[in-house]
Amino acid sequence: MLAMSAALNSTELAHAVGILRRGGLVAFPTETVYGLGARALDPVALARIFSAKGRPVNHPLIAHVLGEREARELAAAWSPLASRLASAFWPGPLTLVVPRAPHVPLELTGGGDSVGLRAPRHPIARALLEALGEPIAAPSANRYQTVSPTTAAHVVASLGDRVDLILDGGPCTEGIESTVVDVRGEVPVILRPGALDWVTLQTVAPTLLDSAVETAPARSEDDPHLSPGLDRRHYAPRTPLVVLSGPSELLAEASLRGERGQTVALLLVSPLADGIPAGGARVHVLGPDPVAYARGLFAKLHELDAAGVDVVLVEGVPRSPRWGAVRDRLRRASAEG
Ligand code: TXA
Ligand code: MG
Repeated sequence: MLAMSAALNSTELAHAVGILRRGGLVAFPTETVYGLGARALDPVALARIFSAKGRPVNHPLIAHVLGEREARELAAAWSPLASRLASAFWPGPLTLVVPRAPHVPLELTGGGDSVGLRAPRHPIARALLEALGEPIAAPSANRYQTVSPTTAAHVVASLGDRVDLILDGGPCTEGIESTVVDVRGEVPVILRPGALDWVTLQTVAPTLLDSAVETAPARSEDDPHLSPGLDRRHYAPRTPLVVLSGPSELLAEASLRGERGQTVALLLVSPLADGIPAGGARVHVLGPDPVAYARGLFAKLHELDAAGVDVVLVEGVPRSPRWGAVRDRLRRASAEG
C-alpha cells in the first residue's frame, strides 16, 4: 500500500493501472467519496472488493466509465431519458441503473439483471479510466456499513493493507455519495438520494420520483437488494448518534447526559445564539448550506469517532428537497444496528 500526492504523474498512473490489470485493488478519489476500484468485468477482481469491504455479494457495485459511449457498451438498453440525464449531469455525481448487457458479470450486479453506471468528474478518476481503457467497479472505499471515506486517511483507517494502492487526491469536493436513479421504467426513480439533488434532476426528468426513502419500509438483510444503499443501517459511525428536532431539545438532552457523566458532542446546522451555554458539550457546526453541510458531514463523523465522545446529538436538518441526501444519511447513521 502506498499513498500518493494530489496530482498523478505518469509513473504513478502506470503503477495504478498495472495493479488493476493484475486484478488488484486501487482506492482512488472521486468528487463524491473515495472508491475502492477493480476491473469491472473481471469476476476474480470483483471478489476481492467484496472480501476487502466485508460486504455481502448480493450488493451490486457501480461501474465507473468515462461517459455515455462507454456506458452504453455495458447496457442492454439505453433510453432517451438515460441519454438526457447523462448529457446533463455526466461527468458528475449521478449513477444510472439500466438493464445489464449480457457480458456484464453477475458478480458486478449482485446477481441482478441491472447495472449501475456512473461517469465520475474527478480528474484522478478520469485519468485512471482513460489509462486503463476499461470500466472500473468501485464501491465506497470503507468496510461494510461504516461511514464513507472523503480523504485518503479515512481509507487507510478503514481498509489498511486490504487495498494494494491508495491514490491521494485530497478531500472530496461533494463529500456524499452519488444519487442513484433507476431509469429502466417509464418513470425514473431515485433509489438513493445523493450529491445531485432532486430539484436539479427534475429540471431534466420532470416525472422523477424520489422513492421516498423516508417512508420506505425497512428491508430484511435477506431480501434481494433493489438497492443496498437502502439498508436501514448504513453509513454508521461507531459513536451513537441521536437526531433531535431543534436547539432546545438538543440542549435539554445534552445537559441530561452531561449529568450522567457522558461526553457529548453537538452537531448543529447553525451556531447557538450568543450567550446560550452548551452545558459542557463540544459544539460542531456544519452550516445552513446543504452542499457545504454534505461536504463536511462524513469527515465530521470520522473526526467524532476518533475523538471518542459518548454520544453525538444532531440538530435535525430542514425537510426541503435540497437536504434530502443529508437527511437520509443522518437517519441511517442514527438507526440502531
Ligand atoms: O458516489 C458514489 O456512488 C461512490 C463513488 C465511489 O462512485 N460509490 C458508492 O458505491 O457509493 P457503493 O457501492 O458504496 O454504493 C453503491 C450504491 C448501492 O448502495 C446501490 O444503492 C446502488 O449503488 N446500486 C449499484 N448498482 C445497482 C443496481 N444494479 N441496482 C440498484 N442499485 C444499484
Ligand atoms: Mg458505500
